[in-house]
Amino acid sequence: MRSEPSPVASGRWAWVEIDLDAVAHNIAEIASRVQASEIWAVVKADGYGHGAAAVAAVALESGAHGVCVALISEAEHLRAAGITAPILLLSQQPPELIPRIIAADAIATVDTVEFVDLLLAALPEGAALKIHIKVDTGMQRVGVAPHRLPELLDAVDRAGTRVKIDAVFTHLATADDLDNEGVISQTAVFDAVLETARNSHRDLMNGAKIHIANSAAALASPATRADMVRVGIAMYGISPGPRVDPLVASTGDLDLWPVMRLVARISHLKPVVAGSAISYGWRHRFVTDTTVATVPIGYADGVPRSLGMSGGAVLIAGTRCRILGVVTMDQLMVDVGHLRADQVAVGDEVVLLGSQGSEAVTATEWADLTGTIAYEVVCGISPRVERVNRRRVGG
Ligand SMILES: Cc1ncc(COP(=O)(O)O)c(C=O)c1O
Repeated sequence: MRSEPSPVASGRWAWVEIDLDAVAHNIAEIASRVQASEIWAVVKADGYGHGAAAVAAVALESGAHGVCVALISEAEHLRAAGITAPILLLSQQPPELIPRIIAADAIATVDTVEFVDLLLAALPEGAALKIHIKVDTGMQRVGVAPHRLPELLDAVDRAGTRVKIDAVFTHLATADDLDNEGVISQTAVFDAVLETARNSHRDLMNGAKIHIANSAAALASPATRADMVRVGIAMYGISPGPRVDPLVASTGDLDLWPVMRLVARISHLKPVVAGSAISYGWRHRFVTDTTVATVPIGYADGVPRSLGMSGGAVLIAGTRCRILGVVTMDQLMVDVGHLRADQVAVGDEVVLLGSQGSEAVTATEWADLTGTIAYEVVCGISPRVERVNRRRVGG
């Protein structure tokens, strides 16, 4: 056995390393693309599984103007961690949470007249609140319908100076598709909505910022950059999808660094014989004698149960090693028969996501193998796996 002490408090032989310098690098890389547009770092879902507070702090230090979350509890968590920058709630919250929005000094997203009235009623004497109005231009998830925007603007008008429209925004449904049609049609709807609003409510709309783009649109559709961009997945060093892929790495002109590294250590090593089978259901049967390493991480930690059956691999000694059979709740097994005896021992590092030597396994690779997207892979690494924040030397 060879190993250093585990870097996590629990002593567990599995953890997540978060490269905060990669966050800083990715923000700089995105900034060089979006130029004058403000960057707002999307850190909902605990920073897509990377740790919201640490990612937010580094993103803000690196030039982001504000952060975006989905839930008031996420905004409160950031405030408790000392984040003082603007925090945008990306969707309208349940009305009973309005006092908490005000207390957290979060920016409310609004899409109904009732919500404006309730906000106004809850505001303490003399206080004012910034809102962003969300318009549904085709995502059909949330947002005010374009034809109902005038009545919403009337309600804000009635609130006088106590409710201020800081921005009007929309969200794209197909920004990550290769085909640009959806982006073109949604931005055309949005342009028309904005023109109507500026004509009917010139003073209210005066100074309101406009935002449309997520990572894919910010990087691949310059016309959507507007006053600010809401960037999540690219900040975590992951390509948002096929339309952005040609910009990433292969052309060398958009260099995103993966932030998350999922690491474990070999817990058990043994020879197995041809003809035997492994893991639940004996779904992998050995055709030759080989050596199997057990790794103490499983589907309860967010490694998909089907990853081995769909061709997934881990890195040991800088070499790909196939996952064998089904991943179990807390452990998985890999074939290390192609490694030399001196390359593999109990306690050795196993990389499930990230690089080791010159090899890498990406969240996109897991996603492709298991029929999902890289967002779900990183969000799915469970809180049971402790996060360790890393800065490079001098960082
Ligand atoms: C409204 C909204 N804006 C922006 C984002 C960030 O998207 P991405 O991670 O693709 O940059 C999201 C994420 O789902 C979102 O829901």
